Amino acid sequence: MLLRVPDVLSPEVLARCRELIEHADWQDGKVTAGTQSEQVKNNRQLPENSEAACAARALIVDALGKSALFFSGSLPKKTFPPLFNRYDGDSNSFGSHVDNSVRTSITTGAWVRTDVSVTLFLSEPDEYDGGELVIEDTFGVQRVKLPAGDLILYPSSSIHRVEPVTRGSRLASFFWVESMIRSDDQRRLLFDMDLSIQTLRRQEGDSPAVVRLTGCYHNLLRMWSDV
Ligand code: NI
Repeated sequence: MLLRVPDVLSPEVLARCRELIEHADWQDGKVTAGTQSEQVKNNRQLPENSEAACAARALIVDALGKSALFFSGSLPKKTFPPLFNRYDGDSNSFGSHVDNSVRTSITTGAWVRTDVSVTLFLSEPDEYDGGELVIEDTFGVQRVKLPAGDLILYPSSSIHRVEPVTRGSRLASFFWVESMIRSDDQRRLLFDMDLSIQTLRRQEGDSPAVVRLTGCYHNLLRMWSDV
């Protein structure tokens, strides 16, 4: 499932994030790449423990905690501490790859199985040319370029790439979620059910049918979750 979550960052938090990272010390992005993705990765990243990354990360983690749609779409068990990347100049693209399946963060020392990949856009689409996140999966090829402050969730099993940025700079935060629900199909089903229950509840309140359906949601979550 591909899911766009709009307005995760308010304009004020987005501006603060940009202020923190824009003039920080960006380094070669190959440091977090696996052996295959290293061959095609040509961007820059903020060192994971740098002051700028830690301060901007705290803002993002706080915003994610307030997003019901992010929670419902990813059902996070563990979230990798958000990282930051930058595409511009000669470091402007990331060829086709699949994200490493298990990662460890130097910030937390914890292992995270990557079920869901996340890109949170920090530059407006008109600030750069190119830079689309292209995701290939059984649902076809999707080209994603979102307003600053929006994020996209997609299965970490997808082959994806970032097209060359030919003008301006593309700043983004990226990270992974180990979900309570390992299967993308099961997670999607729960997400659809959750949205439908919310709609029904708005229409008819907590009718007996809505209560039973809510019970089904939780009982499926109980049956499938791994926490
Ligand atoms: Ni990737």
